[in-house]
Amino acid sequence: MNTPPLYRQLANHYLDAIRSGTLKTGERLPSIRLMMEKHAVSLSTAVQVCRELEDHGVLEARPRSGNYIRQPDTAPGPKPIAHPPALESGVYVGIHEKVSSVLKASQRATVKVNFASAYCAPQLYPLKTLQDNMIKALRLDQHLFDTTSSTCGNSALRNVLARRMLTVKTNLTAERIVITHGATEAINLALRAVTRPGDTVAVESPTFYGLLQILESLNLRVLEVPASTHAGIHLPALEHLLQGPELIKALIVMPNLHNPLGSIMPDTHKARLVKLCAEHDTVLIEDDTYGDLVDTEQPLSTLKHWDRTDNVIYCASLNKTLAPGLRLGWISAGKWHDRVEMLKHTQTRGCEKLSQLAVSAFMGTPSYERYLRRLRKTLTQQREQMSGAIMRYFPEGTRVTHPQGGTLLWVELPARHSSMGLFHDALSLGIQISPGDIFSNAKRFTNFVRIGCGAPYSPRIDEALQTLGRLLKSQS
Ligand SMILES: Cc1ncc(COP(=O)(O)O)c(C=O)c1O
Repeated sequence: MNTPPLYRQLANHYLDAIRSGTLKTGERLPSIRLMMEKHAVSLSTAVQVCRELEDHGVLEARPRSGNYIRQPDTAPGPKPIAHPPALESGVYVGIHEKVSSVLKASQRATVKVNFASAYCAPQLYPLKTLQDNMIKALRLDQHLFDTTSSTCGNSALRNVLARRMLTVKTNLTAERIVITHGATEAINLALRAVTRPGDTVAVESPTFYGLLQILESLNLRVLEVPASTHAGIHLPALEHLLQGPELIKALIVMPNLHNPLGSIMPDTHKARLVKLCAEHDTVLIEDDTYGDLVDTEQPLSTLKHWDRTDNVIYCASLNKTLAPGLRLGWISAGKWHDRVEMLKHTQTRGCEKLSQLAVSAFMGTPSYERYLRRLRKTLTQQREQMSGAIMRYFPEGTRVTHPQGGTLLWVELPARHSSMGLFHDALSLGIQISPGDIFSNAKRFTNFVRIGCGAPYSPRIDEALQTLGRLLKSQS
């Protein structure tokens, strides 16, 4: 029989202590540091012990205070997704080849059903309105194509964005916003403004593979910090790393609708994270690519909202919410604004004007909010249909996230399955998925798959999910 990994053995040790009453509800679990000392284990093992206990519903992390024993949840429903431990010291990323080979294989294949996309189906976007706005803009200004655009972008659009941010409790000035070629350019600019090649940047683990590629292209080292589906980045682990010998220059997080976890950080976590980074002089880069797709009653706060020291750089995108083809995003870099403006000018100059005019004319009207409400509702329904089918067709033991918004599901397959194997088998049948392997530099997510739910549920999608289920069962 296989011996369970060390973290599971230790977690079982504490579970036994809780069951036997040696550790009682409300009592404090030894801190991560103490656990490392007492059991002679590494940081990631100690963190994973806490994560296992959290997954069993018997541990509650209280900000600034520690981990406490709690009554296990008795609510029915799928068990939360459990992730293996994360890396411990900064490494150069080295994932580009793996991601490129997955992307290239997908481009060469004839894809009939694409579950790898994070975008919505074309019919869900307001394409006709944007086209009409473009035609109007061309009629109004016949010099659009013979005059250059400003480096920071169209002022009407920057004003609209600043006004919209007020609804998510964030006060930014339009003058300090720079329109970019998607969030990809915004994150590149943020990193170039605050790091140098060789610096270490922390990320959540798992994280969006495009982010790992950006870090690699800038010759940055990466430190992966575990993140969970219910609260995002694990704050005690981050705190421990920030106190360690490695200087962490920046941290990139997705607090609202993380890709791929779908997690939303509670406000207490957001506030604590912002403070923690400020205390350690680690620049916090907020990637809010999916924030507008959150379907909670109350708009969620941003990290920028909690920022008292101008230590958060806010990056966002309009590519998932409005129109992937326009490639528009933006950055609000606070005290690094002038440097970001200079980098933007030297890198790509200002974004073209026509799409900015079309978008600002739409985003500035009440129709935009109505459109977003409709889109969120549709996505909720699509996610529910997809996750129901995954649970029906995939092997027993599969777990799937239930995010409160967005287009993505993160699926944990039973440990014996290979998501890379599934990727190749499925692609040969015209079905594209995102294998978990590309969401971390380590081999931590080999049995995870990201499934996009941007398209309306259909017999074709149902059939493709059945096929994935059959392929998995034949792997066993
Ligand atoms: C979390 C996250 N950040 C950034 C990006 C890049 O966004 P854009 O397409 O606006 O460059 C993506 C795209 O999928 C993403 O999922």
